[in-house]
Amino acid sequence: MATPAVPGPAGPRGAVGPGEGLPAVFVTRPIPDAARARLERSAQVDVFDGADAPTPAELVSRCRGVVGLLASSADRVDGALLDACPRITVVSNLAVGYDNVDVPAMTRRNVPVGNTPGVLTDATADLAFALVLATARRVVEARDAVLAGRWKSWDPGFMLGMELSGSTLGILGAGRIGRAVARRALGFGMRVVAWSRSARAPLGPGLEAVELVEFDGLFETSDVVSVHVALAPSTVHLVGVRELALMKRSAILVNTARGAVVDQAALVEALRTGSIGGAGLDVTEVEPIPLGDPLLSFANCVVLPHIGSATTVTRVAMAELAVDNLLAGLRGEVLPACVNPEVYGTAR
Ligand code: DGY
Repeated sequence: MATPAVPGPAGPRGAVGPGEGLPAVFVTRPIPDAARARLERSAQVDVFDGADAPTPAELVSRCRGVVGLLASSADRVDGALLDACPRITVVSNLAVGYDNVDVPAMTRRNVPVGNTPGVLTDATADLAFALVLATARRVVEARDAVLAGRWKSWDPGFMLGMELSGSTLGILGAGRIGRAVARRALGFGMRVVAWSRSARAPLGPGLEAVELVEFDGLFETSDVVSVHVALAPSTVHLVGVRELALMKRSAILVNTARGAVVDQAALVEALRTGSIGGAGLDVTEVEPIPLGDPLLSFANCVVLPHIGSATTVTRVAMAELAVDNLLAGLRGEVLPACVNPEVYGTAR
């Protein structure tokens, strides 16, 4: 159902009304057909179909004249872009994270920003747990051993890993995805502890057993630390030299949030010196990670190409929500998932 517009003192800028022709929008990555078709019924849609995300120059040139932008986390959306493309009235980000968007700059220009919370929680939690299993049980290393002909016989000492049942998982950031990972870990018989700036125990139904702990304690006591905080100025390198040094020598670090939450140089050093047991990463500070990056040289480090939300069902749901946000913005209505509701003059 359409949400009525809630104009603020100035209101979101330049909303397009009915009868003025279809508004032009730019979509920076191909999206599933049904979402695209729905968008095309209400807008003139230009979809970037390059093999990679548009360069900053391509982004500016394709956004000139458009009123709506459907971006991905690979696109930098900032004040300079809006100044170069002043007709943009709404930005819809095809991701729950929006660290690629300068939200204060959007808010100053009265441009609402949408994201895709909720719909990718289970897919991302599944992938985080896949990394927990892959690193704890050395799945990739063991497969590589098979392919390299190093599987000689059944050997009681071959590829020994960490038993998850009875081990402790530390959740850094107890939002939706962190709590979904906690549920999975409890199902595996793990003890679960969590650190959060804002959450209070209990964390929700079925999570009564999760103990909230101090920041340092999480690193000191966990056998696996799984990172689930959003990237913000306060969380850049939240896991650095000091935190890695607090971890047990056998412990594993898993990151499915954003690469820059972990100081990657410090992580390389921790893996090189063996001060932690391994790492499972779906995100890196530079994406795609360059092939010569030292992180790729460790057998006990599994690096994936930012595929946390990459299931067909989830990508369809993300695209639908991103299109809902974009269309609502084009109509001058409140975005269903808006990260800067202050543009409407009343915080929700
Ligand atoms: C998200 O939704 O934030 C995913 O990490 C994709 O960028």
